[in-house]
Amino acid sequence: MGDLPIEASGLVRRFGDFVAVDRVDLAVRSGEVFGFLGPNGAGKSTTVRMLTTLLTPTEGTARVAGYDVVREASKVRRAIGVALQDAAIDPLMTGNELLRLQAALQGIPRSAAARRGAELLERVGLTAAGDKRVGAYSGGMRRRLDLALALLHEPRVLFLDEPTTGLDPSSRLNLWEEVRYLNSELGTTVLLTTQYLEEADQLAERIAIIDGGRIVREGRSGDLKAEVGSPTLRIELADGDGVAAQAEAALAPFGEARPCEAGFVAVGLSGGAARMAEVVRALDEVGVTVAGMELHNPTLDDVFADATGRRLEGAAEDTGPDEAGPGTMGSDGSDGRGSGAGAGPGGDGAGPGAGVGGSAAAVSAGRRRGRR
Ligand SMILES: Nc1ncnc2c1ncn2[C@@H]1O[C@H](COP(=O)(O)OP(=O)(O)OP(=O)(O)O)[C@@H](O)[C@H]1O
Ligand SMILES: [Mg+2]
Repeated sequence: MGDLPIEASGLVRRFGDFVAVDRVDLAVRSGEVFGFLGPNGAGKSTTVRMLTTLLTPTEGTARVAGYDVVREASKVRRAIGVALQDAAIDPLMTGNELLRLQAALQGIPRSAAARRGAELLERVGLTAAGDKRVGAYSGGMRRRLDLALALLHEPRVLFLDEPTTGLDPSSRLNLWEEVRYLNSELGTTVLLTTQYLEEADQLAERIAIIDGGRIVREGRSGDLKAEVGSPTLRIELADGDGVAAQAEAALAPFGEARPCEAGFVAVGLSGGAARMAEVVRALDEVGVTVAGMELHNPTLDDVFADATGRRLEGAAEDTGPDEAGPGTMGSDGSDGRGSGAGAGPGGDGAGPGAGVGGSAAAVSAGRRRGRR
């Protein structure tokens, strides 16, 4: 093991017979934001609790900030900041009192603690609320206070367990800004867990997707999506299905055909958005007029679905306007993947349409088989 800020090898946690975390390996690099994405009950908090010395691993080892989480637990604790999902905070205490208590626990001298506490409250926008009881804080204020408390002793490694769950969109954006600031300006290494695809996408350089206690995919978000497949370019034909055969022939050099409804053609565009203009020219050359086109990129939900065969719970409600696409993509994608519902487009007739639908489904099915 080297000098990575967070590394785990074969981490297991059982509760009785139940395996909550199942042989998790992690290697988080210095200065990165690492996202731990998974649905309810996936094992995210249990992993974080082991890494932050709050829970003993049943098997495996982990080192955080260079120290063993079991044998050198107190050194780990001094080096890390933790904002837990279910932190118990006394509602009768004020923000300032909690900061003073935290400083005392961390052994920070009083004058330094006062200065740093004031700075942190300012940064998380809680200066005016510093003397209010925490019981009167909104959910977003609580999360921001949690963050300030976790940062008081200037930790090198920060663990945030679902920092934005339950927050409204603007509080979520504020918290994202803060995490970005900590990471880019102060070089803090951050491991954050989330159930939100968009959060993982926005914040994390690398992501591990965890499901049923196991890491099912890991890598850069863009690479994980690219592995699932090229984006789908869906083209509406101004002259309807009559020109579909010509259109498909012209599109063949751009990538494999994908299923779509009558009056449209679709292709898995290798090379992505940069080639859209070329596509329009190629269609124009064979006399096909384009009424509209849409490019749907694979999303992390497609990655999750590809790895687990399920959609990430609640993904549809959780995604913002940027990700309006995934819903569409999901339904497109499920054609080839799922029950063979993709035969629908093949119903256009015996001509090229049927062939196209068939081959796309075959490509997609082949891809899934290869992966499993
Ligand atoms: N102390 C415990 N005793 C028994 N089972 C537990 C305990 N803690 C966690 N579990 C179980 O382990 C599994 C993983 O829980 P964990 O809290 O790590 O999930 P999570 O990914 O953090 O989920 P969420 O998004 O809901 O917070 C769940 O099935 C949970 O019920
Ligand atoms: Mg949790």
